[in-house]
Amino acid sequence: MRIAVIPGDGIGKDVTAEAVKVLQATGEAFRRRFDLVHLPWSADHYLKTGETLPANGYQMLRDEFQAIFVGALGDPRVPGNQHARDILLGTRFELDLYVNYRPVRLLDDRLCPLKDRGRKDINFVVFRENTEGVYVSVGGRFKAGTVDEVAIQEEINTFKGVNRIIRHAFEYAKANGLTKVCMADKSNVMQQGHALWQRVYKEVAAEYPGITATHQYIDALAMFLVKDPGQYQVIVTNNLFGDIVTDIGGALQGGLGMAASGNIHPGRTSLFEPVHGSAPPLAGKNIANPMGAILSSALMLETLGAMDEARAIERAVEAAIAQHQTTTDIGGSLGTREVGDWIAKRIQK
Ligand code: NAD
Ligand code: IPM
Ligand code: MN
Repeated sequence: MRIAVIPGDGIGKDVTAEAVKVLQATGEAFRRRFDLVHLPWSADHYLKTGETLPANGYQMLRDEFQAIFVGALGDPRVPGNQHARDILLGTRFELDLYVNYRPVRLLDDRLCPLKDRGRKDINFVVFRENTEGVYVSVGGRFKAGTVDEVAIQEEINTFKGVNRIIRHAFEYAKANGLTKVCMADKSNVMQQGHALWQRVYKEVAAEYPGITATHQYIDALAMFLVKDPGQYQVIVTNNLFGDIVTDIGGALQGGLGMAASGNIHPGRTSLFEPVHGSAPPLAGKNIANPMGAILSSALMLETLGAMDEARAIERAVEAAIAQHQTTTDIGGSLGTREVGDWIAKRIQK
């Protein structure tokens, strides 16, 4: 398996080193070769060369690799984060990675931030539409910088885009024996774009009689995620709302450092990354939690069909938590590298 590795910026570099360590250990334990090709695309690279990614960058990712692993992108030295837009959002768009798959699973009751809740209450997946919405940057500014400035940022919703993510959510539920899908939008206010979500959701849901399809407005969903997360199995929502609720999802798993994700076009080269960003204040200090990145590498292997390898990584992460071999954000006393070492060793055993 040939995998592109883009550590990126800040703690992206720190946590990617540990995910790579764990992937290598997994490869050795299962006698499988992972050809990990590091690409330097980052703020450093951009500031040095003026290049975010090369002209053939997207094509290269698509044609030469089975998967892409990303740490995080975002650096205060690049105002506007042009490089992050090109490298991360650009790859999502150019490779048409329309499924942002973000499982929210609490791995240990001790990590639960909610009173009287535990593993049984926090186990669902969020499917975030990943190629449309406000992320397309359609719009413009008029009289910029003056008191008359007008700023327009359009939200794009297409039948194709809405249909395929909603369908994916139902197919996932069906394939995994789940019986509940909840769609979240703001159709009470966004009477054009989200009317499309309403229509498509009803049409697709009718094709899945075994699945109970519910709807919540996104503000209510945000509240229920904290008050009663046990009601969810599968959530499907748009790009921006999905971004926001999966940070809540990160908190429900013990912290943003625990959350994993896949940016997927089924059957094509897809991109895997932790949900968190580059967290500049933590960068290079050996304190960032590498588990979200490590669990993202497990999602990557799972998507590539290496199920046993993926399970081995997940089990090793669970063991590390159970035995308090963690970083300080989730109550341990180890550094980033020491957590990676422990998990890698555990897999080799
Ligand atoms: P962030 O996710 O980087 O960090 C927010 C806070 O969460 C941190 O200050 C820290 O307290 C905690 N945190 C995050 N990851 C952690 C980890 N692995 N271990 C321990 N604690 C962790 O969000 P931000 O500060 O809003 O953004 C920083 C930069 O990252 C920005 O430039 C942003 O655009 C970018 N970003 C990139 C991605 C990505 O590449 N996928 C995702 C989100 C944000
Ligand atoms: C995420 C991030 C990105 C997003 C940023 C860095 C563009 O927050 O992957 O959740 O908003 O999608
Ligand atoms: Mn985000």
